Amino acid sequence: MPVKHPAPGDLEPIETASADELQALQLKRLQWTLQQAYDHVPHYRQAFEARGVHPSDCRSLADLAKFPFTTKADLRANYPFGLFAVPRQQVVRIHASSGTTGKPTVVGYTQGDIDRWADLVARSIRAAGGRAGDMVHVGYGYGLFTGGLGAHYGAEKMGCTVIPMSGGQTEKQVQLMVDFQPDIIMCTPSYMQVIVEEFRRQGLDPRAMSPQVGIFGAEPWTEEMRRDIERSAGLDAVDIYGLSEVMGPGVASECVETKDGPVIWEDHFYPEIIDPDTGEVLPPGSEGELVFTTLTKEALPVIRYRTRDLTRLLPPTARSMRRMGKIVGRSDDMLIIRGVNLFPTQVEELVLQQERLSGQYQLVVTREGPLDELLVRCEIKPEHQHDNRDTLAAELRQRIKTLIGVSAAVEVGLPDSIERTLVGKARRVIDKRKA
Ligand code: DLL
Repeated sequence: MPVKHPAPGDLEPIETASADELQALQLKRLQWTLQQAYDHVPHYRQAFEARGVHPSDCRSLADLAKFPFTTKADLRANYPFGLFAVPRQQVVRIHASSGTTGKPTVVGYTQGDIDRWADLVARSIRAAGGRAGDMVHVGYGYGLFTGGLGAHYGAEKMGCTVIPMSGGQTEKQVQLMVDFQPDIIMCTPSYMQVIVEEFRRQGLDPRAMSPQVGIFGAEPWTEEMRRDIERSAGLDAVDIYGLSEVMGPGVASECVETKDGPVIWEDHFYPEIIDPDTGEVLPPGSEGELVFTTLTKEALPVIRYRTRDLTRLLPPTARSMRRMGKIVGRSDDMLIIRGVNLFPTQVEELVLQQERLSGQYQLVVTREGPLDELLVRCEIKPEHQHDNRDTLAAELRQRIKTLIGVSAAVEVGLPDSIERTLVGKARRVIDKRKA
């Protein structure tokens, strides 16, 4: 696939600025954000006072470590609008993340926030090789979820022709893709696999589909999954990261020429990696929990937001800003099976290394007496469905045992035996212990 390298004039000056310039901008914006939060959000004023810190104590970027963290629980405790730093009348849009239990987490945007968000998604599309005039098929869900509208406004800002398809109605998605011939597709990586299957079901070759680039995110996915999608759909697959509490899609996004992890748009978000147990800031390159402080958000500034996402910060390459490694998993998704810590992505890697298995998988956790039992469900590809599935299951079981160190039961089912997620994020883990 020919990769469009950015012409120098395509980049914003800050994308190639020196480290000193970037840090000076970050410090100025950080001081502004801390002051805004302190002046306009009672929660932050109280939290800062409880810690004995004042915005004026932030004289360098490292001083941020003195300030308290913000968690999802703080957003819930201030439900729905308690963390807004502007009068509600200045909030032009609300989004919310569903969460599995309890109240949703509500976020708000001023017109300025919406404009900057669109700019950052446009920057992300450009990093993926997109240009004004391209046609963008948006398969992220529209609505309270930030994926659909976030991608949409960014693609429009970029000067693209947007197809606001949303998630689901897979047959129709494929029909419109065939008829319209979009240049770019944006959806979750797991839904891209469903689209590929639908091409095949309709007797079409998915490798001949029109998009040259896919911008995938909203859920963890591995390098193996990237290779699988690139091979089967004949496009360049890049990773876009974001979360509603901090903005939505486009907090970080990957450059197509390097595909070496999403570049964090550090002129708007300041990242830290902390030890999730002690809260201590870890040295560069360490793996830990990703924490973000917004630098330009007006309606909902967040100070040291604990994402629960586990990854590491990597040095700049294609841009002057730092990158993040692939998300290993969320601390809340980590399974502990008879004492062994395990993330679904580790299993995904092994499943996708087996040529004859489709990329669909599910982990089912149960408790038999005092012991946790793990069942890995996956499925055979249609073209291999007459092969011996028990042998395949035994092979995968052995690899999971050797490489992850946990004994799991493995079930290789027939094609299509695992339920697909058509809207939203793939549900990889079914934890029956909580039932
Ligand atoms: O998922 C925003 C988004 C939409 C990002 C579309 C990218 C594309 P939330 O629903 O608030 O927002 O979920 C945020 O999803 O903390 C991660 O755990 C996970 N996540 C998002 N992007 C990635 C990614 C959107 N590229 C949560 N890789 C985050 C791994 C991701 N995990």
